[in-house]
Amino acid sequence: MNDLELYREELANCDAKIAEALKERYAIIEKIMAYKEEYGMPILQPEQEEKQKKRLMFSLHNDKHRDEIYDVFERIQRNSKKIQARKLFDYNIVLIGFMGAGKSTISDYLSTMFAMEVVEMDQLIAEREGMSISDIFETYGEEYFRNMETNLLIEMQEKKNVIISCGGGVAMRERNVAEMKKNGRVVLLTAHPQTILDRVKDSDDRPLLNGHKNVEYIEQLMEARREKYEAAADIVVDTDNKTVLQICEDLIQKLLEMDENHV
Ligand code: S3P
Repeated sequence: MNDLELYREELANCDAKIAEALKERYAIIEKIMAYKEEYGMPILQPEQEEKQKKRLMFSLHNDKHRDEIYDVFERIQRNSKKIQARKLFDYNIVLIGFMGAGKSTISDYLSTMFAMEVVEMDQLIAEREGMSISDIFETYGEEYFRNMETNLLIEMQEKKNVIISCGGGVAMRERNVAEMKKNGRVVLLTAHPQTILDRVKDSDDRPLLNGHKNVEYIEQLMEARREKYEAAADIVVDTDNKTVLQICEDLIQKLLEMDENHV
């Protein structure tokens, strides 16, 4: 064997060691999850992720390939999150609720914590139509927009382990609720009208609220929708006076409880 062949042999051995270490790592992830579940501990512990990162950076601080190694580590961590998400949620998570209830914020956070894909319905519809939601309402009318929502939900049934963030009116159609439930668990996010107003007051991309940004109007519309929202929901998560982390943890625990109650 010449030197080159020897190096290649060494490289193959090195890859095998990395693969073994990864298998070990993912097995540890599963043990940590089982432990947290058994002892009723929070699933999301972002501070732990930070600690892990600092420790690794410290051990690599003088290495000339530090950035490249760190890049791989980030990918490993992302895949650990995916493994975790697949184990926890064997379905899509469908977020519903009034405008400003926090659907987009919660989707983003969950997607960061579990490396899950997010389908933001409004955004996708706006992208496909090449115009804003307000312009779609103005140009084609509300019914046209609502039909697009229904079609998108049907399309989403192909997917799994995805967070679907619905526009606030999606759950108003019975047909939509039936379509959501075919592929996912429906999570209703709630907030008081005043909280909603505080969250939406500076944005103009909600045609139904333009010109009506006051607590009374929001309260009225919310009340008119309440029954349908609640009927659609598998779980309800209140978002008032909570951090995003607390809301997500609450949501996860309630989803897990659903599984416990079903076995
Ligand atoms: C609507 C909510 C909006 C958007 C459209 C109609 C509604 O979505 O779909 O303006 O009927 O409640 P958000 O809830 O994401 O603001």
